[in-house]
Amino acid sequence: MKELVDALKVVLADTFALYLKAHYFHWNIEGSNFVQYHGFLDGLYNEVWGAVDAVAEHIRTLDAYAPGSFTRFKELTTITDELAIPSAIAMLTKLEADNQKVIDSLTKAYKLAESANKCGLSNFLQDRIDTHEKHSWMLRSIVKA
Ligand SMILES: [Fe+2]
Repeated sequence: MKELVDALKVVLADTFALYLKAHYFHWNIEGSNFVQYHGFLDGLYNEVWGAVDAVAEHIRTLDAYAPGSFTRFKELTTITDELAIPSAIAMLTKLEADNQKVIDSLTKAYKLAESANKCGLSNFLQDRIDTHEKHSWMLRSIVKA
């Protein structure tokens, strides 16, 4: 069970990191497609933010404590922190790569949940994977020349 809890902590940190970067880019993106980019990122960060609480509460359901500090999130996440203001296409390309990292973390946790016969958690993780696959499609389509 510890392996599953540890995998979920990575999912939580990755979800928070993707949320934060999408919100950061929502604030700072520029270019001739500003209105579309700004609006798209609004939808993305809000959707991802909406999952953060549910992931943390699944950790509590497994009787473990949920991490919730920048220090712990930075230790746990597989997503690189962004300090610069990249170009619009670079921002969306970075988000696509980061979104894939979230899918990878979710998939790892999903497999462990299946092995542990945690059906509800497994179902939740499947739904998150499906939603992030949809984010991948949209980010890929925007970045495509
Ligand atoms: Fe806004």
